[in-house]
Amino acid sequence: MYLILFGPPGAGKGTQAEFIVQRFGIPQISTGDILRAAVKAQTSLGLKAKSIMDAGGLVSDDVVLGIVSERLSMPDCERGFVLDGFPRTIPQADELKSILSNMNRSIDFVISLEVNNIELVQRLSGRRACSACGKGYHVVNAPPRLDGVCDICGSALLQRDDDREESVTNRLAVYDQQTAPLKAYYLSSGVLRSVDGTGSVSQIQERICSILEGQSVDNP
Ligand code: AP5
Repeated sequence: MYLILFGPPGAGKGTQAEFIVQRFGIPQISTGDILRAAVKAQTSLGLKAKSIMDAGGLVSDDVVLGIVSERLSMPDCERGFVLDGFPRTIPQADELKSILSNMNRSIDFVISLEVNNIELVQRLSGRRACSACGKGYHVVNAPPRLDGVCDICGSALLQRDDDREESVTNRLAVYDQQTAPLKAYYLSSGVLRSVDGTGSVSQIQERICSILEGQSVDNP
């Protein structure tokens, strides 16, 4: 199954990708996670990307496409994947189409998570992640047992640099200008499915499942 989880910052793409990975046995490919790992490792890619990401802008298409084409060529992608945070521009979507076409594949569904801006800001401002194991939390919706401490490994929880107020405002504007137009792109190819992204995590899982149910794991 070849999926895209689509939506603005904070829509729940990463959260919902977790159950798709478990239920369908396909890898999650998050360009945000790959870029954050490069920043943490201080690679040349990470050093270039950090200031753009912190400000809430988009890393250039050629850099992101290089990362994605390398990742999609790995053996675990042969039976499908769920893309999270990619594509974000029309050139990225065009190139994805071409990469998949070379593999005789195509996207089965683009699941677009619909959440209003007020809730997006609340979700992003309260998001925290463990500095060691990466487990995600939310100060109100999914708090740790002990304030600021990971339930799993006991390490400190941190806020992402781009979850601060000025970056969030810019990320939402960049989404509206550069990424939201992809909904019309995928609507015209018949694969876009809009899902109410509000409510509990499990309610949203059920909505996504009702779309994915009955799909074979290999697309023809
Ligand atoms: P990226 O990491 O992709 O960030 P994003 O798209 O802004 O998405 P987020 O990770 O912020 O949100 P999400 O939708 O995954 O929500 P989550 O599940 O975490 O990208 C970061 C940066 O990298 C970009 O700004 C850009 O600079 C660069 N980049 C990445 N990809 C790129 C590309 N293709 N091209 C160019 N540049 C690129 O949930 C958010 C919070 O809400 C969590 O706290 C969660 O617990 C909570 N939550 C989730 N679901 C619910 C619910 N149902 N109810 C209540 N709370 C909920």
